[in-house]
Amino acid sequence: MDFSVKSGSPEKQRSACIIAGIFEPRRLSIIAEQLDKISEGYISALLRRGELEGKVGQVLLLHHVPNILSERVLLIGCGKERELNERQYKHIIQKIINTLNNTGSMESVCFLTELHVKGRNTYWKVRQAVESSIEALYDFNQLKTNKIELRRPLRKLVFNLSARRELNIGEKAIQHGIAIATGIKIAKDLGNMPPNICNSEYLTLQSRKLAETFENINTTIIEEHQMKKLGMNAYLAVSKGSNNKPLMSIIDYKTDSSTSKPIILIGKGVTFDSGGISIKPSSGLDEMKYDMCGAAAIYGIMHVVARLKLPINVVGIMANCENMPDSNSIRPGDVVTTMSGQTVEVLNTDAEGRLILCDVLTYVERFEPEIVIDIATLTGACVIALGHHISGLISNHNPLAYDLINASEQSGDRAWRLPMTDEYHEQLESNFADIANIGDRSAGVITAACFLSKFTRKYNWAHIDIAGTAWKSGKNKCCTGRPIAMISQYLLNRAGFNVDD
Ligand code: BES
Ligand code: MN
Ligand code: ZN
Repeated sequence: MDFSVKSGSPEKQRSACIIAGIFEPRRLSIIAEQLDKISEGYISALLRRGELEGKVGQVLLLHHVPNILSERVLLIGCGKERELNERQYKHIIQKIINTLNNTGSMESVCFLTELHVKGRNTYWKVRQAVESSIEALYDFNQLKTNKIELRRPLRKLVFNLSARRELNIGEKAIQHGIAIATGIKIAKDLGNMPPNICNSEYLTLQSRKLAETFENINTTIIEEHQMKKLGMNAYLAVSKGSNNKPLMSIIDYKTDSSTSKPIILIGKGVTFDSGGISIKPSSGLDEMKYDMCGAAAIYGIMHVVARLKLPINVVGIMANCENMPDSNSIRPGDVVTTMSGQTVEVLNTDAEGRLILCDVLTYVERFEPEIVIDIATLTGACVIALGHHISGLISNHNPLAYDLINASEQSGDRAWRLPMTDEYHEQLESNFADIANIGDRSAGVITAACFLSKFTRKYNWAHIDIAGTAWKSGKNKCCTGRPIAMISQYLLNRAGFNVDD
């Protein structure tokens, strides 16, 4: 889809459709008022007759409005004028996109970026509109034999800005919005792909393709025998029961404009988590194909960084493997020696994410990282703590945690920090090894992070638990692409782009 910005008045637009807001109760926005004037009261008469109240998301599509050059006018309810919040704004955009896409308007001029959303500027409104539009159009139909093609899908959306001086920032917002939304889209495709297709090898193939697409990216793959040499025994232990071999993708993005130390991003890429010998109950088990959403997020983020040519150095790592029960599987009670030399008693083979990540966290020391962030669908406990709306964040470095929370607020892809104080570490004590891989039932999201923190002593680190946010269950089951927007925002900020200007 094509996005652009311009600055003009509604009566001069000659388009397939003009989009204008109506506030509750039956109040015209400035644009709707202008349209009403030229059409000699056509719109206000409709409202008086009760055709549209103005509640958030209500739509009324009009054809051949008198004296209006455009073929259609789409009126959209925007709720009470000064009370429009961010979620409602995104909902309104998505409603418009779905309506236009299904009613034959292939191009449209949208006046909604002139709405007032508390605390948000034009950059934010345009970027969110782009992200929400691309999200609304997402659909995973690659594996359906009967693909339904729309006859006249929406192809072009023009955002009208109230002043010409805003055009530059509007264009930046479109550029960023498209990059982030595309990163999210390709990550969703990976997440939704079934686990018989999307295995370690498939993921590494995608990471290689990134290097073919972008000249600033180099991808190397660490295979099983190399992991053995490196002593990554905890990572290797997880995939022992699977025919799909573990493979780690190192996606290295470098720019000449930066000599600073790299930011390392690590994603959990368990392509299917059966639990292993500590096998999971069967209900909803298909959703454990989403246990690679951390790796998918890394893939999406690297796309964003390379596409926007951000002047920073970033290494993205996808830690791919599969957790299956088998006579070769690790057992509860096994002790493994991690790459760091610390020994771990595996009390539960279903706490596999931390076993993979701990070795990758040691591996990345070689990059002398500025910052390390891992992203993982790590604990069911995080879903209990924060539900499906907000990701969990735990860090050993306050400034990093603040920066990430700030980016999460700016992007609307939210995270919430949880504590990691000394007391929690005691839960991981083991009688037979340096540490156990699980604690007791309490504070599972925090003890998982405590485990990881024992491998991150040499650098500033943050852990993002996306167990509750990485995908949606139910009828609209789908990967969400989170936290790509949040991390992309963090990297935009690091690259010196200030979105609050
Ligand atoms: N991938 C799961 C975490 C998960 C569970 C994510 C449900 C999303 C929804 C992880 O590998 C896991 O199984 N964790 C265990 C840890 C436990 C054994 C300490 C869990 O959360 O139950
Ligand atoms: Mn598990
Ligand atoms: Zn898992």
